[in-house]
Amino acid sequence: MCGIIGYIGKKQAQPIILSSLKRMEYRGYDSAGIAVINGGVNVAKASGKLSNLRSKINDKPLKGTTGMGHTRWATHGGPTEQNAHPHVAGKIALIHNGIIENYEDIKKDLLKDKVKFESETDTEVLAQLINKNYKKTGELETAVYDALSVVRGAFGIVVMCEDEPRKLIAARRGSPIVLGRSKDEMFVASDPTALAGRADEVVYLGEDEVAVITPGKFEVTDLKRNEKPYKAEKLDMKVQAMQKQGYDHFLLKEIMEQPKSIEAVLRGRLEVKEGDSHLGGLNISDASLDKLDRIQIIGCGTAYYAGLLSKYMLEKMTGIPVDIEVASEFRYREPVLSPHTLGIVLTQSGETADTLASLHELQRRNVHTLGLVNVVGSTIAREVDGGVYLHAGPEISVASTKAFTSQVLAAMLVGLHIARRKNFSAWEGKEIIDALQKLPKEVEEALKLSKKVKKIAKSLSKFENSLYLGRDSLFPIALEGALKLKEISYIHAEGCSSGEMKHGPIALIDENMLVVNLLGKGPLFEKSLSNLQEVKARGAKVVTVTDDQTYKGNEDVIFVETSSHWTAPLVMNVILQLLAYHMAVQRGTDVDQPRNLAKSVTVE
Ligand code: M6R
Repeated sequence: MCGIIGYIGKKQAQPIILSSLKRMEYRGYDSAGIAVINGGVNVAKASGKLSNLRSKINDKPLKGTTGMGHTRWATHGGPTEQNAHPHVAGKIALIHNGIIENYEDIKKDLLKDKVKFESETDTEVLAQLINKNYKKTGELETAVYDALSVVRGAFGIVVMCEDEPRKLIAARRGSPIVLGRSKDEMFVASDPTALAGRADEVVYLGEDEVAVITPGKFEVTDLKRNEKPYKAEKLDMKVQAMQKQGYDHFLLKEIMEQPKSIEAVLRGRLEVKEGDSHLGGLNISDASLDKLDRIQIIGCGTAYYAGLLSKYMLEKMTGIPVDIEVASEFRYREPVLSPHTLGIVLTQSGETADTLASLHELQRRNVHTLGLVNVVGSTIAREVDGGVYLHAGPEISVASTKAFTSQVLAAMLVGLHIARRKNFSAWEGKEIIDALQKLPKEVEEALKLSKKVKKIAKSLSKFENSLYLGRDSLFPIALEGALKLKEISYIHAEGCSSGEMKHGPIALIDENMLVVNLLGKGPLFEKSLSNLQEVKARGAKVVTVTDDQTYKGNEDVIFVETSSHWTAPLVMNVILQLLAYHMAVQRGTDVDQPRNLAKSVTVE
């Protein structure tokens, strides 16, 4: 969602701010703005893409070496220039990620004081409140602390004041803020990707913490102004990893990176001889592992589907019942959990608000929590009791691809370890390890089919409605494949268990319906085939993805090679990723930044 960058240094702030905002474009936004101090606070804002902001200030750059910038994903008030951040109130300028929930009450009070508002946003209310406090005391820090003691909701903010041109104040509750520094420069951002190649060290601001940033110095306190110790970490992020490297889109690059990202999640974690996995960060005793009687998985969107596929895998491996729920539901329910439940949260970004709230709910119920997280140092990665990093590298495209594959594999590694302590023989463990080791090559081979998939995609991109069908562990893949297609091509797509068709969805089938059919070899092959015949008989346009080389269908068929039922769904999913990609490109959509979507959903 929204992106934040702040800078104090010796160089001109504007180019650094604009290029940092560019790096955070992937988060999703619909307006942008910048403020630089030079005597007063100079602001420029534009609705739409960053290029609109750039062309506004190209001829008249904002000069100054302290500044901040923001990309806004509209919540309160449309994506207009007026609603874009920074919001200026008197001598104060503010950028904000999150939602101020009690902004209407605060606004009512401010209106009584005849404060004039220029936007419809909750953020301007906070800017005006800080300004009101500042006018009273003339103390910037006090004005910010007092305002934050009043607001409810989520915020990651940066405040600048005309009277203190070498100071930025940042604070967070619920929305990530990372501080960065190099020899001569200080930074603040919502996302470490903005700081790669610029800051040597970073400090992740904790919940309800405030940082006062001046040249060469961070002062971190809690909201009551008590000093808080902080830990600076080396920023280990390569700028190159955040570039397209010759691909037309980040999405295609990330799909193609999967043989490598699969190797990365498995690296150093397979105990081949023992048929076991070795995970350093689980932070749970063997005794507690042995007592587990239930696993509760949580995620949103693609992470939820990765969790659903993991349920199929984990139950087969461990015999322990596994529940899976979307985080936005779980967080507000009263889930029934046994004391020996293992809570697993899946998240690429590690910042998804609903997933974070569900993690807190799990922790409130005293269950051990594990995070399968990609972004190192993210809020969820820091708050879980134990975890497994995916090491998939930055996922820039809004649609998640390589993270899905790695999330399932990380869950399988956890499952394998539990199973080996419980019911699995070394031989059974080795069978899984063998499948995992073969997977990079199998995915590499599947990726070679991109040209063929592209050709088929050409003939399909005119369809407006589609159903993805699969059974057993291909059912979660059908759901994920449909999500991918709808996100990036805007074609209506639903995933459905093939066996469920007769119970309703088959009513939708006619010659205007595209059916993407997943046909897995194995015990349900015949049954899936019958389901397919029913769809074909009703005139749907069908494309089949199968790993059964003997299949002889008269529709478009994409064959993939798989060696194990444990990993076959992940290979078939790669084809669905390619299909969605090529169909979206064919339709000319914004593949990497689809409309209305944000990469990391940090508000409810
Ligand atoms: O960062 P997370 O994995 O927690 O994100 C969860 C979902 O928001 C995310 O997977 C979303 O559904 C993607 N747009 C899917 O492509």
